[in-house]
Amino acid sequence: MAVVEVKVPDIGDFKDVAVIEVLVQPGQRVEVDQSLITVESDKASMEIPSSHAGVVQELRVKLGDKVSEGSVIALLQVEGAVAQGEPAPLSSVVAPAAVVAEAATSPAAAAAAPAAATPPAAPAAPAALTPPPAPAGVGAHEPTRAPVGLPHASPSVRKLARELGVPLDEVRGSGPKGRITAEDVQAFTRAVMRGEQQTRAQLAKAAAPAAAQGGDGAALGLLPWPKVDFAKFGPIERRELSRIKRISGANLMRNAVMIPAVTNHDDADVTELEAFRVQLNKEYEKQGIKVTMLAFLIKACVAALKKFPEFNSSLDVEGGSEALILKNYWHIGFAADTPNGLVVPVVRDADRKGVLQIAQETAELAQKARDGKLSPAEMSGATFTISSLGGIGGRYFTPIINAPEVAILGVCKARTEPVWNGQAFVPRLMLPLSLTWDHRVIDGAAAARFNAYLGQLLADFRRIVL
Ligand code: COA
Repeated sequence: MAVVEVKVPDIGDFKDVAVIEVLVQPGQRVEVDQSLITVESDKASMEIPSSHAGVVQELRVKLGDKVSEGSVIALLQVEGAVAQGEPAPLSSVVAPAAVVAEAATSPAAAAAAPAAATPPAAPAAPAALTPPPAPAGVGAHEPTRAPVGLPHASPSVRKLARELGVPLDEVRGSGPKGRITAEDVQAFTRAVMRGEQQTRAQLAKAAAPAAAQGGDGAALGLLPWPKVDFAKFGPIERRELSRIKRISGANLMRNAVMIPAVTNHDDADVTELEAFRVQLNKEYEKQGIKVTMLAFLIKACVAALKKFPEFNSSLDVEGGSEALILKNYWHIGFAADTPNGLVVPVVRDADRKGVLQIAQETAELAQKARDGKLSPAEMSGATFTISSLGGIGGRYFTPIINAPEVAILGVCKARTEPVWNGQAFVPRLMLPLSLTWDHRVIDGAAAARFNAYLGQLLADFRRIVL
């Protein structure tokens, strides 16, 4: 039996935030990701999950206390060795709804916003404001549950919502700054009772594949999942999935099932760009900078996202009124392969950074990812994601959108091919691009234009300054 201190995780620039609810008491058993306290800033209320499972030995905070990252919330008696937290998985993090709502007037606030997911779905990451394990998802319907950042509401309204079983994050606030009032909660309840509205949990239950719910596929009218005794056919070994894989699997499942996704494949001629990259590397290797294709891709994608803003958006399906949230910031996530699974670190404000800085930053973030040291904040807030398999191989693939983003670019290994230039076939280095997009938001022509424009930028990087 060991005693661990459960601390407030990285909560972005939220400092000295007030504890407005204490959700556990000494002697109570808590599970990993179970909410311990709720904190409230002037932008949002958030629940802080437990990083460990165990019994609360002592509470170190009380109502009204001010806490920041690192503040000790409680001492927990845990059994066995104390496990280290794993980084958040693909799709796991997103700024809390209340913060996102303010992004239009305060992009910086959104950028620095702690990771958060919608309560009804997100599994939580260890000691993360937004449980990093929480599937991404403002407006998405998560199949699993975890504590997360909650919208702005007073403790009494939050209590009322709990009593009525109303998922507060699904309620649209009509008060100042989107604050949720008791009337909003009651109106939500009436709408659900009248069948005019469904909660995410109801939608997820109806839509998520039954296999993901431990069912047999009957909910979707599918055949039962095959049950095979593999040992009958030969020796087997059972290996549990890592936490990241379990969480990202649930996210990927939701995103694959719920997004009408289409993928366009194209090629970009990167002959000159690669020559430029090699030349730059000769110049900068002494400074320890490795200029990567990924850095150029990030920069080119930002330019394409600016030209086609709907690719830098999220679909807001809250409250039944569908709208696009267009983001005036360009935070680019990139899939990073780690021994524990896939994670998506985010390069913030890539529009304000040069290729060299982006190359350095992606290298640092990828290393942190491999070391399992990414913070939730470093994996949150992406507006678009790049998944590059260029260092490994392959021709094309169909990446799954990292909801609530609406598009993702998959990149494979460039290779020299004969390309007709109007007079002869000439050897050109061609980079395969696979753009997956949400057909609810984007149509095929726009996707083809996005890819074509991206290809033009990569073929002649000078166009980026036009
Ligand atoms: N075409 C040809 N070569 C490429 C390339 C491309 N598109 N992209 C990278 N390379 C080369 C690099 O130049 C480098 O070669 P060098 O060592 O001779 O200079 C080599 O491949 C290794 O590059 P890599 O380690 O992949 O670096 P990167 O900066 O390109 O990528 C990550 C960094 C984090 C994206 C990468 O390490 C990673 O994790 N990729 C996997 C992502 C993934 O799993 N996606 C699938 C999601 S479903």
